Amino acid sequence: MTFPMQSQHSSPDLIVHLGPLTLAHPVINASGTMEILELADVFGEDVLKSPPVGAYVPKTITLKPRQGNLPPRILETPAGMINAIGLSGGGLEAFVGGSLPRLLTLSCPLILSIGGFSPREYVELAAGLRQALQAGAGDGWTQRVGLELNVSCPNVHSGCLLIGADPGEIEGVVSAVRREWPGLLITKLTPNVTDIASIAAAAAGAGADAISAVNTFKGMVIDRRSLRPFLGNVTGGLSGPAIKPLALRAIFEIFARVEVPVIGMGGIRSAEDALDFLACGATVVAVGSAGFTDPWLTGRIASGLATSLSERGLTLRDVVGIAHRREA
Ligand SMILES: Cc1cc2nc3c(=O)[nH]c(=O)nc-3n(C[C@H](O)[C@H](O)[C@H](O)COP(=O)(O)O)c2cc1C
Repeated sequence: MTFPMQSQHSSPDLIVHLGPLTLAHPVINASGTMEILELADVFGEDVLKSPPVGAYVPKTITLKPRQGNLPPRILETPAGMINAIGLSGGGLEAFVGGSLPRLLTLSCPLILSIGGFSPREYVELAAGLRQALQAGAGDGWTQRVGLELNVSCPNVHSGCLLIGADPGEIEGVVSAVRREWPGLLITKLTPNVTDIASIAAAAAGAGADAISAVNTFKGMVIDRRSLRPFLGNVTGGLSGPAIKPLALRAIFEIFARVEVPVIGMGGIRSAEDALDFLACGATVVAVGSAGFTDPWLTGRIASGLATSLSERGLTLRDVVGIAHRREA
């Protein structure tokens, strides 16, 4: 596999502004599905100079180190995959002292994802990252780094699910983090709720600058030999093409309800899939599961999007939310 250079897919027509961040194109990775530093280790530092994404989102950072859930934690399913990783990782201190300095050499914006088990943990995470960035990222870091609140992980038994499913809890977390975080603040929503638009409205009302949706759908798989749950965690999160129509519906409803930009994801594998999300109201799209089979897919989707838009004689601005407008 060779590393395709950014020049293939950077086009002035694809530039997107997400609050203070400027993205060369609207295709990013979904948190937890692309390890860009590992790609750079294998393919060289050019990956960081010309990343295949409009912005890079690392996996969710927790306050303390976490082992994650018991194995098995991941399985392919018809038209998708199910995972119950359970937010494994080294925690805030390891991230700040380890990956962060190298991630700050990326030529694209960085969107840091945090996940807490109480509102206080989100605030501590945001404050810790802000201090590290103020000390290490130089003036103007808010134009290069945003924060995404993962309030939507279905695999952790306390905290996240409750916060992500309850408008009151969302308001509490978002407004508390808002006081600590001066830059772009995104809230990433779980689709495992009855009315996702109300949750989005609560987040936007509390100060979120953008909404990201959707995280995985809670599901399970049975091990055919034992007829017991396959995943060590019993349940997991379903992603991939199987969830795309469900995700499109969520984006459509959120766009109709809130004024802030929406980052759409769920089963995107092609430029045409990305176009569907833009039509429903996404300003930026994210590729998750499909990136495991092709880490350069985001770049190819961006080029495909440019071609597709020019063939249709449309601009990005024309297309965002077009599915809400009556045909002329
Ligand atoms: C293996 C795996 C790990 C994930 N880890 C995270 C994570 O750390 N934080 C997060 O917000 N979402 C995480 N997600 C959810 C994705 O970011 C995305 O919201 C979801 O997979 C839907 O997009 P897709 O259908 O394109 O995969 C993960 C998904 C997968 C498949």
